[in-house]
Amino acid sequence: MEFLDNLVLPQSAHHMVLLKYLLVLTYIILIPYLSILFSSLVLSIYFEKKAGVDFKNYLFSKELIDQITFNKSVSFALGVVPLLSSAFCYAQLLHLTGLNVPEYILISALFLIVSLILIYTYKYTFHLKDIFTFASEKAGSTIPEDLKSYQSKTTHLHKRSGLYGLVFLVITIYLFIASIQLAADSGNWSANNNLIGLIFSLKAFIYFLQFLVASFAFTSAIILYKYFRIDSHNSKDNEYLSFVKSIALRVGTVSTIILPLLIILNVMVKPLESFSYDVFGYALLSLIVVLCIVILFYVMLKESSAKFASLLVYLFVVLFAFIIIKDQYAFDTSTKKQFAMLAANYENYQKKVKEEFGLVTEVINGADIYNGKCIACHQFDRKVVGPPYKEVLPKYEGNKEKLIQFVLNPVKVNPEYPPMPNQGLKPKEAEAVVEYLLTTYQK
Ligand code: HEC
Repeated sequence: MEFLDNLVLPQSAHHMVLLKYLLVLTYIILIPYLSILFSSLVLSIYFEKKAGVDFKNYLFSKELIDQITFNKSVSFALGVVPLLSSAFCYAQLLHLTGLNVPEYILISALFLIVSLILIYTYKYTFHLKDIFTFASEKAGSTIPEDLKSYQSKTTHLHKRSGLYGLVFLVITIYLFIASIQLAADSGNWSANNNLIGLIFSLKAFIYFLQFLVASFAFTSAIILYKYFRIDSHNSKDNEYLSFVKSIALRVGTVSTIILPLLIILNVMVKPLESFSYDVFGYALLSLIVVLCIVILFYVMLKESSAKFASLLVYLFVVLFAFIIIKDQYAFDTSTKKQFAMLAANYENYQKKVKEEFGLVTEVINGADIYNGKCIACHQFDRKVVGPPYKEVLPKYEGNKEKLIQFVLNPVKVNPEYPPMPNQGLKPKEAEAVVEYLLTTYQK
């Protein structure tokens, strides 16, 4: 995908730092969103399958899917846009590495779009199915044949769209996760820069597991928050509410108990060149937050209450932020060389642009050259290694050219002194320093 490369602008070191901040922000939106989308869909499909005669399962399944499909533009803004913008950030940051990460992320954005279309189909057919059921209950045995066939087609489409939506979503998430893992693994850039290497990477797999488990935990907290926050005027009957509570509490507790293990595993498989104190620090912080979450879930499970639900949601956002910042530090450390190269590239580019527009205003300062190069051996009124300027400059007065020639190409003059080593100045610099010497000496 050449076109991504064409969009790349040379970045200065400062811009690259900004791009990295942008990535962190993008992920703090994207990852929680993807995780709610994923587990709500999985749970919805699961509970619909289990529904049978139990209306509670059916209702819960429908509410789960409604909770993530309330608004199409929100899905676009929280899912597709962040994915696209992270592809462009990586295109800038990984420029000239030949790494396909930006392309893979773009592909995952396409998969997400397909998946969202399917998920919305799943939701609409859910409601449509209800209408058909309602109609056929009303009509009894007099229901027309074609209505019956519509009904079975809708049910079929509903099941298919849910399942394929989930498949596409899993591909989206895995591709995205594997790509960001590859970006942070500079030691394996050349080896794993293909689809096979990308998919069958242990790091990607473990990160994916961590994502799955965290997403179930987070979604449980969101469900608890949604149904049981103090100001929620939920008119549902108590039996249904306690059914929802017990599911959310169980799923939440079990998944948060597994989570620390996966966070530790994830740090253990991180490439060596990405380690730093920051990575460890943030890994530790995220473990502490998970521990708090486990305790809160456990207490709520024991008391069968949802009293910490909003605190939990808040803690999860902090947890996601810590994990994302940790990964970003790992990416940063492992790609130091790449960034130094890009920064140098940028300086060259800037120089070229300036030259092109005749903007080179290289200021050559005689005094600076004297202080930087000559002062080690020369003073105006005192002998150091070389003769004092006071003694040697008079003969050059009115003959600037000759002095410039000497400075550019020193020749043996006075047998009492060793020869002066060539200072390797450019003609312009020699002229400036000579100018400075002659005017200063005259004062
Ligand atoms: C490493 C020491 C050293 C440095 C650095 C050095 N010089 Fe010299 N310079 C000498 C010595 C030694 C002589 C005497 C050479 C001789 O007489 O053959 C000399 C001689 C000179 C003379 C007198 C030449 C003459 O005709 O008698 C000038 C003028 C001079 N240096 C200018 C400079 C300037 C300008 C710089 C800085 C860009 C500089 N030097 C840096 C050692 C140095």
